[in-house]
Amino acid sequence: MKRILFTLGVLAQSAAFAPTAVMAETTPAAPPTPVVTFDSQVTNPSGSQAPGDQYIFFAANAKPGDKWGEDPAMNLVKLTDFSVSAPLANSQLMPPEANNPAGVKVIAPGGAPVVATGLLGCNRSGDDKKYADMATFRITNPAVTSFSIWVLDSTTKVRANVNEGLAIRVNGCAPVAPCATVKTDSANEFSKFTITGASISDVFTVAVLSSDGNGAHRTLAGLTFSVIPDPSMAGKKFPVIEQQGWNDLNKNAKKDVYEDPYQPVEKRVENLLKQMTLEEKLGQLNQLVTGDRKNDQALFPLMRRGEVSSYIWGRGVPADRNQFQRIAVQESRLGIPILFGMDIIHGATTLFPIALGLSCSFDPELLERAQTVAARETRAEGVEWVFAPMCDLARDPRWGRVAETCGEDPYLSSLCNAAQVRGFQGTNPAAPDRVAACLKHYVGYSAVTGGRDYNDSEITEWTLRNAHLPSFDAGVKAGALTIMSSFNAIDGIPAAANHHAMTEILRDEWKFKGFVVSDWLAVEQLVNWGYAKDKADAARLAINAGNDMDMKSEAYVPNLAAEIKAGRVSLATVDEAVRRVLRVKFQVGLFERPYVDESAYKAAQKKPEDIALARECVTKSTVLLKNTGILPLSKELKKIALIGPVGDDHREILGCWTGRTSWSKPTLASALKEALPTDATLTVVKGCAINTVPTTKTLQDGKIVPDESVPPTDADLKIDEAVAAAKDADVVIMAVGETKGFTGENASRAFLTLTGNQQALFDAVAATGKPVVTIVFSGRPLALPEVWEKSAAVFYAWQPGGEAGSGLADLLLGNVAPSARLSMSVPRHVGQVPIYYNYYNTGRPRSGQYRDMKDMDAKFWFGYGLTYTTFEYSPVKITPAANGKSAEATVTITNTGKREGIEVPQLYIRQLVCHEGARPKQELRGFKRVKLQPGEKADLSFPLTGDVLGYIDRKGNPRVDAGDYEIWIAPSAHAGTPAAFNLTPRD
Ligand code: NOJ
Repeated sequence: MKRILFTLGVLAQSAAFAPTAVMAETTPAAPPTPVVTFDSQVTNPSGSQAPGDQYIFFAANAKPGDKWGEDPAMNLVKLTDFSVSAPLANSQLMPPEANNPAGVKVIAPGGAPVVATGLLGCNRSGDDKKYADMATFRITNPAVTSFSIWVLDSTTKVRANVNEGLAIRVNGCAPVAPCATVKTDSANEFSKFTITGASISDVFTVAVLSSDGNGAHRTLAGLTFSVIPDPSMAGKKFPVIEQQGWNDLNKNAKKDVYEDPYQPVEKRVENLLKQMTLEEKLGQLNQLVTGDRKNDQALFPLMRRGEVSSYIWGRGVPADRNQFQRIAVQESRLGIPILFGMDIIHGATTLFPIALGLSCSFDPELLERAQTVAARETRAEGVEWVFAPMCDLARDPRWGRVAETCGEDPYLSSLCNAAQVRGFQGTNPAAPDRVAACLKHYVGYSAVTGGRDYNDSEITEWTLRNAHLPSFDAGVKAGALTIMSSFNAIDGIPAAANHHAMTEILRDEWKFKGFVVSDWLAVEQLVNWGYAKDKADAARLAINAGNDMDMKSEAYVPNLAAEIKAGRVSLATVDEAVRRVLRVKFQVGLFERPYVDESAYKAAQKKPEDIALARECVTKSTVLLKNTGILPLSKELKKIALIGPVGDDHREILGCWTGRTSWSKPTLASALKEALPTDATLTVVKGCAINTVPTTKTLQDGKIVPDESVPPTDADLKIDEAVAAAKDADVVIMAVGETKGFTGENASRAFLTLTGNQQALFDAVAATGKPVVTIVFSGRPLALPEVWEKSAAVFYAWQPGGEAGSGLADLLLGNVAPSARLSMSVPRHVGQVPIYYNYYNTGRPRSGQYRDMKDMDAKFWFGYGLTYTTFEYSPVKITPAANGKSAEATVTITNTGKREGIEVPQLYIRQLVCHEGARPKQELRGFKRVKLQPGEKADLSFPLTGDVLGYIDRKGNPRVDAGDYEIWIAPSAHAGTPAAFNLTPRD
């Protein structure tokens, strides 16, 4: 006989067992933990329970006075200790019958209160293998935040049939994933569910999957609780908040203006602001990060006090997210919902190519479509804010984050980023499939000295206005609700304290109404910069500069009250920041729908059409840089060798932000195998590891540690095997590049080379003389002279995402023709960077060459890319303005090849004289994608309007000058011949 203790807390009355989020008014009494001891026998536990675990068992079909089932050995609890409740109310499949009064309400002997009540029902399902709820319960003591449930699933002695599975449904979610599910199929097995971070308002349901139903099922279940006391909760009241069509968030039993969905947002914001204490206001400026579950407990009291406005929610799991939200909404005074944010950059469950790749499509609508999918997948998880798009300008490929940008050109980047904002937010960011966007990193982050992440940026006002700001401006105009300030400093002022950028430009000039969040710890890091004395000083500088929300530093909450008292920060400044945050929370619909529908998560992820879109994105993002005629691969090529570490890799292709997916199927190898004709053979040889340099990773707390998942030595080095495979093949496809660990944040590079031993592998394979089609996988342009020279064809695939394999197979085999163009120039050598096509003509245009390098041009300029056909451009014709119509530039393009193809004609302009400041040698101001059949021609016109020709002056005003211009319509930057154009004041 084993003595088992059941620790009981305090039960107030709780009649509501239905799985809804509404909490009946409950007044827990203190002190919570009376202890009741039961004599119990546990004859057949699974053996996995921990010492000190406590159990109580009670039976289905119980009547007062019943002994435990038919099995004397299982006589665990004297049922006289309990009273039978009403029949099971929520059985999904079959209500209990009169002779089967299922359900036991747990009341401890002598009427002593218990921490939870349970209704355990007999599961009498049919043969249809469905889950039946057998026990639904909630915690009625706010002190209970963690407990375990033991369910005796299969006792052959007690039950005639074996159940197939068990699930815990949390707050009514579907009894399949993402609920916890346990399958127990051996007899006499206990299943244990451990739940931590539970909240008083959660409803848990034990559900059983039955394999057949002869009507004789009896399922035993036990509940065990460990009580983690939270004295702050003693005596608190939790009234019902959900009302007809509104939520009584401040629990005052009346509809306040801020709770009324029919009131204008601005009125709701003001009404709520008036009710807030200073502490609650500062709480709305505080963003924290959740880590693993064991740290959750510490966060709950902060949320109850209203000190957390937002979480960076890396965890996924809608049920967890709802649990956090319940605490904020139901247990804090004003019930202001938490805004959950996450880095969903190029996909959540469906992974698209990185932004740098997507922008090579020169098809902003494609980016909009991709982010529409990402928005749906993300919002379904309960994240309503994504930290994208990245509006930084990519001019220096050493900087690892060029992968996240839309390339080097302000015009293309503006269109692509505005499109991403539309994709995320749609026309109504409150919709259940949309999220708030966040333009980042504001501003000048990409111009970091030496390409080293987090560094300072030297940017003049002229360059800031005309190169770095336009993409943010476009994002604001597209309606982006939030902006993230960056890590870098400009002119000695770190971005989180840059008043010029965040207040003068963003608010005063652009009238941006959303909020600015700092980057990770950037407020506190003002101290490291040597710009702030301490955290309080940092908080003051940041909020006064216009940085509304503090990401992770926890600098605002503890310091700003004192700063206000001392007169260094005004209450009006804090109020304004809070207004901005609340406004966004209203705009995303959080006050109406604070919870996410957990049962809808799965259906919102990776639909077949999403996979098709991801594949289309791969074909439209992959740039064909060279083709001697080998592509598309002929059906006559029967023996194909796929060589290189990315050929059969599931992870490297995904890119630096992998959303909720870390493994891809298919790989290039598996997709090719499927796509090749049946009489072709594919030999796959890895050849070497993708990386041999020990890499590091950054932990949640910012600490950098070695990344052990990347082997530091090349155990895979098998160049001989690769050479043998190449020799035996008709054609070689080489899948090489840089490891994704070298791209993204904190991943700058000094060399723009293939990582690990891939160059040696390439050289050896190329030396076989077999035709080599190289596919470069990379988050940045690499300088690979041997690859350009020795390959018969080169695809630049970037990091193509989850459908890399299928999309690349489409291109290789010619099912789809390439149409992408470089959104970032490819240098010849790292010594040239930063390099970008829109440089100045300078005073000595032909001088300034490198002494030790022949050509100072990029190897491939921005805009470059081949197709499977050829196009011819006529000279550019200018039609002067007339009859109120602006002047136009026109070109005739002819498909001179043998295949249908998509050409991307690009309009470049140059203003020859500008007194405000010299303008670049070329600037992209228009492009189109045009599909032409062999022999087909098209006349394409671009209007030469003020915004096409103009620039931004030093005060931020758009200007266009009369005078001389050059106009190109060409297949890439620095190609083609310009036409002269004179803009007269009349134009
Ligand atoms: C730091 C990165 O710079 C930023 O891009 C990201 O959104 C935040 N961390 C949040 O993860």
